[in-house]
Amino acid sequence: MIDFDEKSVTDAFFDQIKGTPNKRLLQIMRAAIRHLHSFAREVDLTRDEWKAGINFLTAVGQQSSEDRQEFVLLSDTSGLSTLMNLLEDRRGDKGTNASILGPFYREDPPILELGDTVAKLKPGPEAVMYGTIKDVRGKPIPHALLDAWLADEKGLYDVQEHGPGVDDLRGRYRADENGRYWFRTTIPSGYSIPMDGPVGDLVRNTARDGMRPAHIHFRLMHQGFQDLVTAVYFKDQYIETDAAFGVLRKLVVEILPPSKDSPIPSLPRIPYDFTMIPSSAVRHPGPLGSAAA
Ligand SMILES: [Fe+2]
Repeated sequence: MIDFDEKSVTDAFFDQIKGTPNKRLLQIMRAAIRHLHSFAREVDLTRDEWKAGINFLTAVGQQSSEDRQEFVLLSDTSGLSTLMNLLEDRRGDKGTNASILGPFYREDPPILELGDTVAKLKPGPEAVMYGTIKDVRGKPIPHALLDAWLADEKGLYDVQEHGPGVDDLRGRYRADENGRYWFRTTIPSGYSIPMDGPVGDLVRNTARDGMRPAHIHFRLMHQGFQDLVTAVYFKDQYIETDAAFGVLRKLVVEILPPSKDSPIPSLPRIPYDFTMIPSSAVRHPGPLGSAAA
């Protein structure tokens, strides 16, 4: 097929790939190119704009390295990572919403006892976070593992503040026999995504500030259940405008006054229960994200 116009060029592409043996690849390629061509027609894309787009994607690749993934940052700041997580949540049904992982997770965090603080090096205003880890029927999951990691009051993670090899504001807890967890933490601050690369330029050029609200990241693990990567978010000035679209209403927490019913009655408290879904419930496990979340 060579006799095509600005509309039928899309059909010419479909014609060329019709023999693709992998049917899922065929489906994805057909949809991706259909939307890409439609996008170019809709905005009447000029050659200079197309070149600017190519240059932008080239710069995103060149900015990426072992320590920084600018494409994931692009995915996060476009809302695509959260869309992926929402699609997974829909398949998983009734579990705690996933949220973006961020670049500061470590596979080997310090092992801590229930009630220990994650803040080893930096004293600051504290709270106790606590709750129950449950299955979708509301039954507690005994001894589930919970990794927590967060930024400090300046919005910096340990590696940013102290360089590699220093642990702070991260730890792994094992829930008790009733699925309960509790730990001491300082209150994190919101922070900016990296604004010194092409994605930062795009965020700035689309009238956004690149800020994320304060949050604590979590990864929950237990045999027979899907790993849950999520975060809880605090109501600060960035809560409605998270540059990475990680905030969902059900992930927003409040810092409540101390209570004698809390595991550490002297501290302000952040109660939050997590719900894990069975590993059989999802087709494509694993939430996506992020370069700076
Ligand atoms: Fe983060």
